[in-house]
Amino acid sequence: MKSKSELILALKRNPLPQHIAIIMDGNGRWAKSKKLPRIKGHFEGTKALKRIVQVCGDIGLNYLTIYAFSTENWKRPNNEPRAVLTLIENTLMKEIRELHENNVVIKFIGSREGISGSLAKKMDNSYEMTRNNTGLHLLVAVNYGGRLEIVEGINTLLKENVKSITLEDFSRYLYTKNAPDPDLLIRTGGEMRISNYLIWQIAYSEMYFTKTLWPDFSPEEFLQAIIDFQRRSRRFGGV
Ligand code: IPE
Ligand code: IPE
Ligand code: MG
Repeated sequence: MKSKSELILALKRNPLPQHIAIIMDGNGRWAKSKKLPRIKGHFEGTKALKRIVQVCGDIGLNYLTIYAFSTENWKRPNNEPRAVLTLIENTLMKEIRELHENNVVIKFIGSREGISGSLAKKMDNSYEMTRNNTGLHLLVAVNYGGRLEIVEGINTLLKENVKSITLEDFSRYLYTKNAPDPDLLIRTGGEMRISNYLIWQIAYSEMYFTKTLWPDFSPEEFLQAIIDFQRRSRRFGGV
């Protein structure tokens, strides 16, 4: 495989995607393969994420949306949901200053139901702190479900007594309002499914599935996925 700087040079020859979405899957299997507790896999996953966010800054990507915790993940046993949410809270505290220095806007998307007051406050504060930055927009999907997002949007419309709506206007009722739709969706961990992620927004996204488990997902593979995307012909139903 080529080096990071070679890959960045290659990638700069063609237009970048505006928005990349990632399903960060495979933390549990990574931990299991090393006979470690699952939470250790999630912890390694935060390190992989940091490397990817850094390379997004290097290439000047505009939007990155990452799936950190789904509305379905509450089904997990042994307090894993609470452990993951605590890890998200601690990681945010640890990284927020550096993200701000690196000009990142960080925004959390998802339902606030079941999210602790202390995490909710940190989510709001970190957006307030970074909202005027001009670099990467990092959208973190926590307690996120695509179907719930659509239903919440419809309920807002009903409350506002809206009688009919266009496709473009409906996008403004989603958590991702103001963001372009993802051009590229990456899923690590080997599963070939969407798992209720951004189901409205990915209608025409290009897909990149890899068997690499999330903690092992490298900036090099990420850059290679973008180069692969740049070679595709997107027709949007045309010819
Ligand atoms: C993804 O990794 C992270 C979360 C869903 C929180 P998993 O925990 O789903 O890892 P696997 O799929 O069990 O390997
Ligand atoms: C999707 O992974 C959710 C996140 C990565 C946060 P899951 O591991 O929950 O997906 P399924 O259960 O295999 O579909
Ligand atoms: Mg999984």
